Parts: sequence; C-alpha cells; structure tokens
Amino acid sequence: MYRTAHRIDQGEEGNAILSFPSVIDGISAIQYSQSVMGKRAYIETWGCQMNLHQSEGIAGVLQRAGYTLVEEIEEADIVLFNGCMIRQKAEEKVYGRIGAVVEEKRKRSVLLGIGGCLGHLRGDSLLERFPAVDFVFGSRGHGSLPERIEQLRRTGGRLPAQDPPTIEEVPFSRKSSVTAMVTIAEGCSNFCSYCIVPYARGPMRSRAPALVVREVEHLVSAGFQEVLLLGQNVNSYGRDRPEFGGFAELLDWVARTRIPRVRFTTSHPRDMTVDVLKTMAARDNVCNHLHLPCQSGSDRILQAMRRGYNRGQYRSIVDAVRDVVEGVNLTTDIIVGYPGETESDFADTMRLIEEVRFGSIFAAKYSPRPLTRSALVEDDVSEGTKNERLQRILSRQREIALEENERWVGRDVRVLIEGETRDGRLYGRADDHRTVVVEAGAIGELATVHVEGATASALAGSVLISAKGNS
Ligand code: 5AD
Ligand code: SF4
Repeated sequence: MYRTAHRIDQGEEGNAILSFPSVIDGISAIQYSQSVMGKRAYIETWGCQMNLHQSEGIAGVLQRAGYTLVEEIEEADIVLFNGCMIRQKAEEKVYGRIGAVVEEKRKRSVLLGIGGCLGHLRGDSLLERFPAVDFVFGSRGHGSLPERIEQLRRTGGRLPAQDPPTIEEVPFSRKSSVTAMVTIAEGCSNFCSYCIVPYARGPMRSRAPALVVREVEHLVSAGFQEVLLLGQNVNSYGRDRPEFGGFAELLDWVARTRIPRVRFTTSHPRDMTVDVLKTMAARDNVCNHLHLPCQSGSDRILQAMRRGYNRGQYRSIVDAVRDVVEGVNLTTDIIVGYPGETESDFADTMRLIEEVRFGSIFAAKYSPRPLTRSALVEDDVSEGTKNERLQRILSRQREIALEENERWVGRDVRVLIEGETRDGRLYGRADDHRTVVVEAGAIGELATVHVEGATASALAGSVLISAKGNS
C-alpha cells in the first residue's frame, strides 16, 4: 500500500480546498517507481459524494497506468477537473478554476480535462468556450482515461467526451483509510422537475450484489471501519435488475460482512420500504441515520417538483421510520425559491422542519438547470427573496439542531474517529451521524465518548474507552 494524495473540493458551499492523503492498494512498487515526468496528475473534485468517489476511481485508474498524483496544479502535467452541475453556482465555480490552468499553460505544457456531470452535459461546447480545455470526459467510463490521454498526446488536437453506459469496475485510490464509499447504483430514473442528475448520469443502473459484497469484504480485510453505500436513490436499487433483489436484501448482505459500520445515501421518501427499516433496526452495524430529502413542505410545490409524495405522506414516512428504528437521526435536503413558491408555501416548509426536527439540513436556493422541466417555467422568485428564505430556514434549523444536540450532553456515544480538525483536535461521527469532537484518541478507532458540550453543528466530549484500550 502506498500513500499519495489528490485534492478534493467538496460541495459548492464554499468549503476550503482540502487535500486528503489517500491509500492505493494493488499497485506494485515497480509500477509505482515507474512514475515519470509527463505522468503527474492533479485532480480537483466538485460536487456530491458520487463525484468524490468517482475521483477516487479516476485516481486509481491513473495510478494503475503509472501516474503519480500531485497536490498542486503547478506540479502537474495533466489537470483534471471533475465538475458538478446540480446548481448553477457549482458549475460556475469550476469555470472559475480554469484561470489557474491558463496561468500554468503560459509557462509550460500541461493538459486540462474537464469531466464529471459537467463534462457529460456540456461536452464539446466546453472545448469551444474555453480554449484552455484539451479534452472532456463524462460521468462514467474512466477506465479508458489513460489511453485517451495517450491518444491526445500522440495525435494532438482535442478529444471530445466519451461516456460508456456501464458501471465500471476500477481500482480506487481512497481518500480515507477509515471510511470507504462503495457504489451500489449509478444514475437516476426519477426525473424530479428541477434535477439534472438523470440527464447527467443516465438511468438508474444497479451493481451486482456479489460485486458489492466482495468489495466490502475486501475493505474489511484492508482494515476499513465503515462503508458508505452510494446511489442517487438507494431505495430503488435492483428495480432495473429484479434478479439482484432489492435494497433491503443488499443492505442485509453488506451488514453480514464483518464491517463495523454501514451507512447509505440517498433515500427517496417515496421508495422507502419497511424492509429497509427493519434491516436497519435488526443489524447493529447499520447506522442509526437516514438522509431523507423532503425538498419542500408544501403540497403544491411537491407536486410541481414531481416528488411523488405530499406533506402528509412524508410525515407518515417519518413516523414509520421513527417507530421502527429507535433513536434514528433524520437529515434532509431543502430547495428554497422553487418557481411559484409563495410565502405560504415557504411557511409550510418551515413548519415541516419544526415538526420533524431534523438533526441537520442541507438547504439551497433553486437554480434552473438545462434540460429539466422546471427550467421551462419562469424562475420567478427573486434572488432577494431566495436569500432571505434561505437565511430564515438555516437560522431556525440552527436553533433546532442546538436543542437536539444539547439533549446528548451527559450521555455516552460510540464515535468512529475520522480525522483532525483545523485546530488540531480530532473529530468523528456518532452512530447517528452527529459530528463529535474529541481532544484525544486515534484516527480509525471506534471510541466510547462522554458528551460534555454541544453546539448546533457538533457534540464535544472525551474518550472513555477506545477499541485499543482506555485512553
Ligand atoms: N436547484 C437547487 N437545488 C437543487 N438540488 C437539485 N437540483 C437543484 C436545483 N436545480 C438539490 C436537491 C438535492 C440536492 C442534492 O441538490 O435538494 O436533494
Ligand atoms: Fe434528482 Fe430526484 Fe433523482 Fe434525486 S431522485 S437524483 S432529486 S431526479
């Protein structure tokens, strides 16, 4: 196993650029030492966990082909931007980064490729619009990237996007050695009115359960403590391939490996089944957390969004979840300022967060996206109103989260310690996904922590018992 690094910029929420050490297995020392000039790659990722994980795959494929991953554009022969298109702001941020490569190109030869959902959808138009872009790749089919780069070097010119339809089995260069993302399905067949994902990633395709379980078993032997099963809508797993069984079955298979913790995301409320909840309740290693995007609390808006449930049905699903999975922490996504959203619609959303009391929410202002249905309707909620609604919902949610977190003070929680905070302390996640900050411990250990304080975003405590003995 060799350590290397590639850079990951998470989300479009203005998070600082982070460089994660990553671990690659299955690469021999000879292959590694053959890394030569011309084969230094820099990868920058924008977007969701799917994109982050795909960058781990791109990094793995490049390393297998003899590339070394570097942490600065200045050190790279090839720069790859894995871009997101879910909101306009995300797309613009990627374009904003092209300037840094243009600077470098003035000094020396460096190739720039743009891919991910952005490359898939904007395709060759990126080559027209940005002369600095040498090639475009899509949101899948990364296995052939090294050959395509070689071709580009041999023939010159600029390569258009390519996007084979299958889920590829590629080696991963993982950013964490504690928690590993594992794809169970790609794409989405839901076509919510505002969402570009079905166009960017194609229809939902499930990965064979045997491949998923084999990957998790491999991760267990490699010492990983947690897997995060990834799909745009995990609850629809297997619908394209009935012989695969459904998500509840797959979750149970994964839980039966010896992996200490299993998480999954994202769950579409409409497709949630009692079987999945029962598996969550029955298997100790399946975490007590459910990310259940509601998007809005207004029946009118939910219908326009084509979400397939109304406010009352969402509330019933929440009740069922809480009945079956004791102590579950619910989190959600919300869009504010969807076309036609009135003050009364927004009040319904505010009421929903009051009633459900989510542990945390991810709220974003609506932006029209190409190809989607809602882009045909006027984006008529003003920027000012969107901003104001976003602030109102975030500030009320901060109060709710603080009250919920304060209920944990004085109690003990099991925490998987995942990394270091900027100020040199350690952080991890409780079983129910709450962030917990501790003063001492070791990354990768599952510790029992006594909670001594709470803020709206985290709990703080001290380690009582760690997997490696008392601290
Ligand atoms: N505008 C704003 N937010 C969006 N999302 C998806 N599409 C849009 C859009 N056009 C949000 C949804 C989704 C999350 C990943 O991004 O809340 O759950
Ligand atoms: Fe987009 Fe809806 Fe699919 Fe989620 S379920 S990825 S919001 S289309």
